[in-house]
Amino acid sequence: MLPPTMDSKIYGAVYIFMLFIAFMNVNALQSTQISSNSVLVALLDSHYTELSELVEKALLLQTLEQAVTHHNITIFAPNNEALERQMDPEFKRFLLEPRNLKSLQNLILYHIIPGRVGSHNWPGDGDAVVHHSTLCVGESDNRLPIMKMNSGEKVVGGVAKVVRPDDVIRPDGLIHGIERLLVPQSVQEDFNRRRNLGSISAVLPEGAPVVDPRTHRLRKPAGPAPAGSPPALPVYDAMAPGPSLAPAPAPGPGGAHRHFDGESQVKDFIHTLLHYGGYNELADILVNLTSLATEMGKLVSEGYVLTVLAPNDEAMAKLTTDQLSDPGAPEQIMYYHLIPEYQTEESMYNSVRRFGKVQYDTLRLPHKMVAEEADGSVKFGQQEESAYLIDPDIYTDGRISVQGIDGVLFPTTVIPSSETKVSPPVAPKVVTKQRRGMFFFGKKVL
Ligand SMILES: *[C@@H]1O[C@H](CO)[C@@H](O)[C@H](O)[C@H]1NC(C)=O
Ligand SMILES: *[C@@H]1O[C@H](CO)[C@@H](O)[C@H](O)[C@H]1NC(C)=O
Repeated sequence: MLPPTMDSKIYGAVYIFMLFIAFMNVNALQSTQISSNSVLVALLDSHYTELSELVEKALLLQTLEQAVTHHNITIFAPNNEALERQMDPEFKRFLLEPRNLKSLQNLILYHIIPGRVGSHNWPGDGDAVVHHSTLCVGESDNRLPIMKMNSGEKVVGGVAKVVRPDDVIRPDGLIHGIERLLVPQSVQEDFNRRRNLGSISAVLPEGAPVVDPRTHRLRKPAGPAPAGSPPALPVYDAMAPGPSLAPAPAPGPGGAHRHFDGESQVKDFIHTLLHYGGYNELADILVNLTSLATEMGKLVSEGYVLTVLAPNDEAMAKLTTDQLSDPGAPEQIMYYHLIPEYQTEESMYNSVRRFGKVQYDTLRLPHKMVAEEADGSVKFGQQEESAYLIDPDIYTDGRISVQGIDGVLFPTTVIPSSETKVSPPVAPKVVTKQRRGMFFFGKKVL
């Protein structure tokens, strides 16, 4: 028998140990960095605002964040109409009661398939119904049937028409817009039990689809991309090789489709920078490094979008000669400040606020840019090598976005990625980590 003091000491130690474990878990979760290009980030920024709100209320963000680090997801997103007007208010109240959190979670997870099912993976006319397991593991039969009606309409869960197939496409998943909520059996039962009125239902799945025992194979090739949709190739494939490599191949006949006048958009934003004031160094570099401006113009012409993190003059003045003397160094520095996505101050702030840390691809492969929320703003980079977003939305035209920052950023760590991406088009000649502000350069630096 242990003396009582000993006893409580042991409990104390166990308690501290438990706290430690809890702390480690929190850290483990926080250290996942979601890609800004994730379908999850896109969902929260999409017009599926009611669904996004439910996902947040269901406390599912971390679960889904983990999911997309391991596999693609396909989200069947009920549109706002379905969640606002068409849903039984009593059912909605039920879902939002804290004690029914599990039901809300199951309901949402029932709309998500742990895999990539694009509209071209859909069964064809008259093909068999295909069943996909969902993330709703709480459901005894969690398989969601997808099928195509004779009318040509795509239907999911036996009842919900897909009104916006492939509405959002991202590297780690996609979103199909559907016109009604899917209610898994268990949630329906919970709801009925709660209000003790077994005969009344919320939004019921009806008429389970009949399984056609024929082969399940997709027949239709993917249709032509809708106008204005993003280019099919990743941006890196469209980029000219860097200055250290072979010269860019001459554009082939009938090569790129030119949807946009990227060159004049680039000129336009450089002028805007000049008029804005405080960004003359950067504007100069862009004017002088014609290859860079040309490259940007070409990418935009081909349908790619860009976010430019623009260091202000004070930040540029702190660059050292060492940092700039290597051949191609200014280009390398600039490429690291180009994100191949269209982000505004609001969209970036929303992402970092929701996810803590977000990782952006840059045109300087394979280096990523990490961003987090700090002091009510977005902070890029890590530790002392960081810069705040100080001048939001200097230029935003829907394809090019320019955000003013107060530091020049350098890649510090290459985030290891399990999936091997396109090999870097530029030799990763890293401008070694330098402390800023050691050698001041009062004047022009180039
Ligand atoms: C998602 O799907 C794409 C295309 O099939 C694939 O290249 C990628 O590796 C997948 N991502 C994950 C995290 O499995
Ligand atoms: C750009 O080129 C002009 C003319 O050659 C030169 O005077 C200026 O210093 C250059 N600016 C930068 C930032 O390289």
